[in-house]
Amino acid sequence: MGFRVWVLSILILHGVFARIGVAEGEGSHRTERISGSAGDVLEDDPVGRLKVFVYELPSKYNKKIVQKDPRCLTHMFAAEIFMHRFLLSSPVRTLNPEEADWFYTPVYTTCDLTPNGLPLPFKSPRMMRSAIKLISTSWPYWNRTEGADHFFVVPHDFGACFHYQEEKAIERGILPLLKRATLVQTFGQSNHVCLKEGSITIPPYAPPQKMQAHLIPPDIPRSIFVYFRGLFYDVGNDPEGGYYARGARASIWENFKNNPLFDISADHPTTYYEDMQRAVFCLCPLGWAPWSPRLVEGVVFGCIPVIIADDIVLPFADAIPWEEIGVFVAEKDVPNLDKILTSIPTEVILRKQRLLANPSMKQAMLFPQPGQPGDAFHQILNGLARKLPHDKSIYLSPGNKVLNWTAGPVGDLKPW
Ligand SMILES: *[C@@H]1O[C@H](CO)[C@@H](O)[C@H](O)[C@H]1NC(C)=O
Ligand SMILES: *[C@@H]1O[C@H](CO)[C@@H](O)[C@H](O)[C@H]1NC(C)=O
Repeated sequence: MGFRVWVLSILILHGVFARIGVAEGEGSHRTERISGSAGDVLEDDPVGRLKVFVYELPSKYNKKIVQKDPRCLTHMFAAEIFMHRFLLSSPVRTLNPEEADWFYTPVYTTCDLTPNGLPLPFKSPRMMRSAIKLISTSWPYWNRTEGADHFFVVPHDFGACFHYQEEKAIERGILPLLKRATLVQTFGQSNHVCLKEGSITIPPYAPPQKMQAHLIPPDIPRSIFVYFRGLFYDVGNDPEGGYYARGARASIWENFKNNPLFDISADHPTTYYEDMQRAVFCLCPLGWAPWSPRLVEGVVFGCIPVIIADDIVLPFADAIPWEEIGVFVAEKDVPNLDKILTSIPTEVILRKQRLLANPSMKQAMLFPQPGQPGDAFHQILNGLARKLPHDKSIYLSPGNKVLNWTAGPVGDLKPW
């Protein structure tokens, strides 16, 4: 592109930004609801549609773990903790297990952090096994279905495969004892051994108060075209390159580091949240796992998420119209990202922004304390309610066993 053409396109884009900036505005008449099922499902109220029994476990499975490491309350896997707290005072909770539709086991398997704050799920299988042993011997409900009416929150990178490296996670597979349970997990990728049918994909935890505190006035124009902050290479864990983000992040950097439309960098500025509110497009490429908190941040800050993660299964995909609010770019098309994004018509951008401005879209991405109608807790309950009534075939005849308690790596069978 010659210099003059380049200047001209920047000017045209600035014109677009000004209008785009005005279009944003929470709660204003310019927000737009998706008509039909998606918008309605998002505002469903789960109360009265299901009853959940919360097992009472010794605090070493939950409270004590957080006391030992309060960092677990703010990391992106914190949904396992807040879902527990939410359920304890939720109107869907029942104290009578005989009338429960779903059973919940509050076990914080992801709260085991390295000094740098990275969660390592190496003890998770033993801890989970120990908790299931306990509920199955102390109450009759596990044996009745071997877990088919039980749900577990497993927010780690690859869910109940319990490893942060994809190859190892695939090799491990889903913990055998959870084969019949419903898994509530952040990991979502179609045709992947770590996502079984019937799982509920949730957003990662992003701190609602902190995000709220960084909101800027909605009429500030979106003067950044494409925004991204984060790693392009993970030299520590992937010295040769190519594994991390399957090369997609490296490709973003190599192709667009000098492109003036791309505000991208590996530095994490203190104005990160504000910058997203000043951007039209926010890149959400895969990292080690396909998902990242950028999805949540994009929706909350009205920055159109550009999802680069082939076959990703997005959070609450039955309620959130991801195709309409986001832009999907195949990993192999990253070198054309500039052309793809600049060729999206202004009307399409404006419509996506109006949809993103819908407060119920944002609410569904967040785990606020206390919970609020339509938030991510409610979307999880809606997902569980939609799976009811349970098929009669889940109830096993007495003495009939399906799960194999000695399957899986030998290390997982050691006591926790
Ligand atoms: C459930 O079955 C296991 C054997 O698989 C048994 O050890 C346990 O006691 C049973 N639980 C109850 C509550 O009967
Ligand atoms: C359970 O798994 C172990 C280990 O893979 C295997 O040796 C055993 O035969 C299995 N038991 C049954 C009943 O399938």
